[in-house]
Amino acid sequence: MKVLVTGGAGYIGTHCLVELMQAGIEPVVLDNLSNADPSALARVEQITGQAPIFIEGDIRDHRVLELTFQAHRPQAVLHLAGLKAVGESVEKPLEYYDNNIAGTLQLLHTMREYQCRQIVFSSSATVYGDPQTLPIPESAPIGGTTNPYGTSKYMIERILSDWAHADPQAQVIALRYFNPVGAHPSGLIGEDPKGLPNNLMPFIQKVAVGELEQLSVFGDDYDTIDGTGVRDYLHVVDLAKGHLAAIQRMLRESDTGFEAINLGTGNGISVLQMVNAFERASDQTVAYQIAPRRPGDIAACYADASCALDKLNWRAELDLTQMCQDAWRWQQFIAGK
Ligand code: NAD
Ligand code: WQD
Repeated sequence: MKVLVTGGAGYIGTHCLVELMQAGIEPVVLDNLSNADPSALARVEQITGQAPIFIEGDIRDHRVLELTFQAHRPQAVLHLAGLKAVGESVEKPLEYYDNNIAGTLQLLHTMREYQCRQIVFSSSATVYGDPQTLPIPESAPIGGTTNPYGTSKYMIERILSDWAHADPQAQVIALRYFNPVGAHPSGLIGEDPKGLPNNLMPFIQKVAVGELEQLSVFGDDYDTIDGTGVRDYLHVVDLAKGHLAAIQRMLRESDTGFEAINLGTGNGISVLQMVNAFERASDQTVAYQIAPRRPGDIAACYADASCALDKLNWRAELDLTQMCQDAWRWQQFIAGK
């Protein structure tokens, strides 16, 4: 039984491939390599002992999608392909809406053509905007997004919900990721952002390894435990296991319709708590300075993770130390490449 993994050569995708393959599910990767290197798939093979099927192509290319579905007839789709940089989305909204939304629509048209009605979608806690309640349940209002990236995720959730409503056999699980960090314990796969990292953990990694001079802490005057931003960081391997649980549930049960499920730990960690945890795990100093708040940032965001436990029998198991240790191992690997 095959599962199409769009964006499977990326950070989260490669970790999902490992979990799928080790559970006996055969992935078919479709990726245009716009933010990935095919060598990552070779390292997935090093970990699993198998080479995933890989097709280089764009989810907006109907011909590529048709050939992929004709050749492999996937039972379900794990839809990870997308552009994800918040700041870039503000500068390039049309590219983000075209890639993420038009790409998803092309994928759904082809799924319908080939009677494939099961999809797990990479959504994001960003759809909640600035949350009114913490921890955030799936029932919290969505759509108060503040950038084209987050809006694209919200709009795709709406599209998938309407599609599921129109097709009584359609099954959709939208996984709302909080803040994935870390890397596979083998040290062979992880995130290697091009240029200056946007996100906190990759930035800390590069300061610790000496590639960047110091971290700018975006604000220390929030109403949080130490004034710095609080987020729900979860290990990318836990996140990948959440995708496996969603796919396995979809293949096992015939629940139809649209469901949104948070993937988070339920714990909020501040920027300075993350810095301290990383210093302890890596035995390196992470130099930082307090800088002004980053426009668009919210004070705190962390999940009510009870739904994932209830519906997927999934909970995050790896703690902050393991997130930092695995992130540090990966950073040393890429520094030495
Ligand atoms: P990533 O950039 O590493 O992976 C995305 C992959 O999709 C890349 O390999 C890229 O080459 C591919 N891709 C992009 N556009 C494509 C297209 N049109 N056709 C085919 N392939 C395409 O990012 P990631 O961190 O692995 O994120 C994967 C998904 O999870 C994304 O949809 C992202 O929005 C979502 N997500 C990520 C985070 C996070 O913090 N990393 C949080 C929430 C949601
Ligand atoms: C975390 C905290 C910053 C960098 C983003 C996207 C979200 C999702 C995950 C895709 C905040 C602080 C950061 C730095 C800092 N991606 N920070 N100095 O903003 O919670 O979420 O990534 O779906 O959609 O919005 O993550 O890692 O950028 O920031 O002080 O150099 O670290 O202010 O409090 P964020 P982040």
